[in-house]
Amino acid sequence: MCGIVGAVARENIVPVLVEGLRRLEYRGYDSCGVAVNSKRGLERMRSIERVSHLDSSLRRARLESTSGIAHTRWATHGAPEIRNAHPMFSCDALAVVHNGIIENYESLREELSDAGYAFVSQTDTEVIAHLIHSLYDGDLFAAVREAVQRLRGAYAIAVVHEDAPHIIVGAREGSPLIIGAGAEGNFLASDALALTDQAEHFLFLDEGDVCELTRDTIRIVARNGEPVDRQPQQVRIANSAVELGSYQHYMQKEIFEQPGVVAATTNGVEAFVPELFGDAAAATFDGIESVQILACGTSYYAGLVAKYWLESIAKIKTDVEIASEYRYREPMTSSRTLVVTISQSGETADTLAALKYTQSLGQTRTLTVCNVASSAMVQLCGTRFLTQAGQEVGVASTKAFTAQLVALFMLAVTLGRQRGHVSALHESRYLQQLNGLPQMLTSTLALEPQIVAWSARLATRENALFLGRGLQYPIALEGALKLKEISYIHAEAYPAGELKHGPLALVTETMPVIAIVPDDDMQEKMKSNIQEVRARGGELFVLADKDTQIESEEGIHVIRLPAHYGPLSPVLYTVPLQLLAYHTACARGADIDKPRNLAKSVTVE
Ligand code: F6R
Repeated sequence: MCGIVGAVARENIVPVLVEGLRRLEYRGYDSCGVAVNSKRGLERMRSIERVSHLDSSLRRARLESTSGIAHTRWATHGAPEIRNAHPMFSCDALAVVHNGIIENYESLREELSDAGYAFVSQTDTEVIAHLIHSLYDGDLFAAVREAVQRLRGAYAIAVVHEDAPHIIVGAREGSPLIIGAGAEGNFLASDALALTDQAEHFLFLDEGDVCELTRDTIRIVARNGEPVDRQPQQVRIANSAVELGSYQHYMQKEIFEQPGVVAATTNGVEAFVPELFGDAAAATFDGIESVQILACGTSYYAGLVAKYWLESIAKIKTDVEIASEYRYREPMTSSRTLVVTISQSGETADTLAALKYTQSLGQTRTLTVCNVASSAMVQLCGTRFLTQAGQEVGVASTKAFTAQLVALFMLAVTLGRQRGHVSALHESRYLQQLNGLPQMLTSTLALEPQIVAWSARLATRENALFLGRGLQYPIALEGALKLKEISYIHAEAYPAGELKHGPLALVTETMPVIAIVPDDDMQEKMKSNIQEVRARGGELFVLADKDTQIESEEGIHVIRLPAHYGPLSPVLYTVPLQLLAYHTACARGADIDKPRNLAKSVTVE
């Protein structure tokens, strides 16, 4: 989703802005731009192509400056056109970049139009530029503070004015914005990754904060107008997170990082105790009678797997709901329900809003499973589990998903232990399985060449069906999502028993059907469902275990995973489906790490 970079320093900051944008490309965008205070006044360049295109234009124009702001835009209000790309100008004197959505922009636009401001874009952001301009009387910081009080919705903004070439002003509410303090100057960004070469320390702005940066000073004022100190934090993002190494795409690299990610997330766990989820967890978990999981997209599918684990291992009733639905209904709540939000980014607008909503309904037992320590969801939850997936650059979530699964499995066994449904013997078996998972993942990744062969066949199709049952049904859903988002092949997933209630009508010789058939209790049922497909001419791609009783034959291709891995088998079956989506998308020449219309961190509704 949109990305912000701002810089005020001793030397020319244009390369810093461009490098920052490059690092934010992974979030997804459809236009980009830079505005700087140069010797000629406020200057701007924008592009509806890649950051590299913008960079070439900036180099040709020899744009140089010691202060400026930059943006990657993911279109919300108005198409991806130059006139809608940020930075937005007001009267050629002031420039703004903005992440988020201003809900009252229409009334503000009317008011500012009446005051004589001309609007050239379709964006809500132009309203912010004109509003600040209308309030400016020589003090940019004061004008921004006054302006943000009139904004409704979510925003992170960075502002420059030609009268104050040594100052950048920022503000946030509902969208992340951080300050990077470096030896050569001070910086602003929506994501620490943009600044890892420039700053050693980061200050995370709170909701309602407004800040002013010069190259040597940082001033922050809280919503109530009081000056505040935000404690600098060290953020270590290994450069290896943004380097591809020997891989062709970040998605491929991240799929192959999964054994390490799982090992880092389990962190040599020796017992399933509430403290794994923080000091407050024992009290949070004590006496709960049900679990409510809230999440979006891939994280929601992790929640669906968790429901199986929580109900079968911990014997606790579990509901899973898409966060964007939950936030708009009147759910029945109970003080004995543990609400669990799952999010890679911790900033997904719908999940964050659902969390705040449930808290406003009096739910005090909240746990977040999240990959970003500094995220809003982590700040809101006393009880949390931080997955150790590391920076995920590919838009399609892969390693973050497996890390979430591992965390949720640990939650299920921990609650099972606390509730007396998991004996010491069972606990040690679960520990053994969890600790053996990285090795099993490595063996599963070795199936890549076989998957490449499948993907060549799949790449020519426009539709696909995914089937699974029980624990594997959410994995079928995840496999279908991965395929559609990066290869643009229309894919649907069904619990295989549902096939005959409708989707079977779609099955012909041209319909590839990907079926997950582990050597478990549902094996015989799955085999019958497969026969239903084969009888209609559908081509079957079966993922099975070593011992699943099914053989390759005409129209049935079987790939075998090393062995059945009990309740953790969904983690293993995820891998070939990720690889299948990846190689199919490669074969179709798709832009794997930046699929069309998608963004990494969905910070708008
Ligand atoms: C799909 C994908 C998305 C995210 C969803 C939630 O590959 O990445 O479906 O899972 O946008 O994001 P988080 O987990 O950051 O809340």
